[in-house]
Amino acid sequence: MEFDIVVVGSGIAGLSFALKSARLGHKVAIVTKKERSDTNTNHAQGGIASVTSCADDFDSHVRDTLIAGDGLCNEAVVRAIVSSGPKQIKDLIQNVVEFTRLEDGTPALGREGGHSKRRILHVKDYTGRAIEEALLKCVERNDSIKIFEHHFAIDLVTRSKLGKGCAPDCDEIAGIYVFDTRNNRVETFKSRVVMLATGGTGCVYLYTTNPTIATGDGIAMAYRAGAKVSNLEFIQFHPTALYSTTGERFLISEAVRGEGAILRNAKAEAFMEKYDPRKDLAPRDIVARAIDSEMKRLGSAHVWLDITHKDASFLKARFPQIYEHCIQRGIDISKDYMPVVPAAHYMCGGVKTDLNAATSIRGLYACGEVACTELHGANRLASNSLLEAVVLSDNASAATDEYIKSSKQNDLPDVPAWKDGDFRDSDERVVLQHNLGELRRTMWNYVGIVRTTKRLERALNRIENLLKEIEDYYWNFKLEPDLIELRNETLVAALIVRSALSRKESRGLHYTLDYPQKLPEPKDSVLCKNS
Ligand code: SIN
Repeated sequence: MEFDIVVVGSGIAGLSFALKSARLGHKVAIVTKKERSDTNTNHAQGGIASVTSCADDFDSHVRDTLIAGDGLCNEAVVRAIVSSGPKQIKDLIQNVVEFTRLEDGTPALGREGGHSKRRILHVKDYTGRAIEEALLKCVERNDSIKIFEHHFAIDLVTRSKLGKGCAPDCDEIAGIYVFDTRNNRVETFKSRVVMLATGGTGCVYLYTTNPTIATGDGIAMAYRAGAKVSNLEFIQFHPTALYSTTGERFLISEAVRGEGAILRNAKAEAFMEKYDPRKDLAPRDIVARAIDSEMKRLGSAHVWLDITHKDASFLKARFPQIYEHCIQRGIDISKDYMPVVPAAHYMCGGVKTDLNAATSIRGLYACGEVACTELHGANRLASNSLLEAVVLSDNASAATDEYIKSSKQNDLPDVPAWKDGDFRDSDERVVLQHNLGELRRTMWNYVGIVRTTKRLERALNRIENLLKEIEDYYWNFKLEPDLIELRNETLVAALIVRSALSRKESRGLHYTLDYPQKLPEPKDSVLCKNS
């Protein structure tokens, strides 16, 4: 198959990029490993941060982002993304996203940690789902876009991989191998542009707010192809996931604290004041560390979140999803405290890109959580991620249009079919589950909110062993989705730990007891297979 553009992933970044590219006249394929709406976007509760009220201004949004990012954001990138916000919000409204409004018709603006103003546009507490549904409808109506569900992207094809005399540092995309999981065969997509919009990596940890698709596939593919990846040590732990003994972690949006909810420890004492003057609305790294410290100090399995000062009618209208979920779990949030714990939530690093979503390989672009644009720095400001996704996908649609036009004089090389004909069915499927369990526990126990060099080294040792075992296994047995995910998760976990070990300081989300101070010169961490 041949397309101008292959988009991997069907969340907000992938869909909005596909739509804008199709409107520029390109033939676009969207490949997605499960159903089209199985995305991280669908789970985003809080909303999208943008300056839309006259009580707010770009400088405040920029300042809040820089403070949360703890010295590692690129200010020019922050300013460019923040100032594009209002235009992107208009586009979303044109694509029929119906943000919650006040009685006078203006958008109702929520507040979250680290924001000095109310600026979060939202659709009650299911903003991501509302955006996903609206964009999917537009995509489904567009004849230039073909969606391939149950198609799992396995590996990128570059000119250097094909032996086309291309040096690794000026490599170029030629296509992508994609596993059709329903028909058990690998298909070859030829394409000048591949956009990675694969979302996050939360599943490398035992406890996460992310859905099961968040297995770091985009970062793993990009790294294997020789692209640069950056700042992977900055894993954001959301402070408030609903605690359960089964391991499931349902997100309790930060917008609940934005409406006045208070964190209390096992003795029911409000504790955030001890840790930060912004109390419960301090940036997430600070709140998650404070919770971790209170749980350790009092030996408790969780802390409490208290919104009982609001009545049931307000809570049902503002947070219908959270209210209903808690009721099903026997918690009436207008009367009862919610048991909450931190859980892995967002990857602030990713495949290194510029403001057009271009990576270090020509024709390879990345957008959304999979990318590192230097907006988030060492800690993402809440609800900046949906904003980043729409701004970057807009920039990328113009940049890829240019790229496709300028590269048209060169023929796309032939891409040989994937070879796995002789491989056997796996005889030890249980091994995959054991390896996955070991990986996720190792990451949770040794690469969490508070780190040490010794624990990171212990984790790396185990993960490198798993990586070797999985690579041998991968090439000896027939492909299956669990195996592809395990291979990707293990590689991404190894990259996270290597990045964490390379950072000899504590900054933002990377906190290590061995280097508690910040270095004077903030620096991105960068990893590349070819260097
Ligand atoms: C939340 O609603 O707290 C999550 C939103 C985000 O991660 O930005």
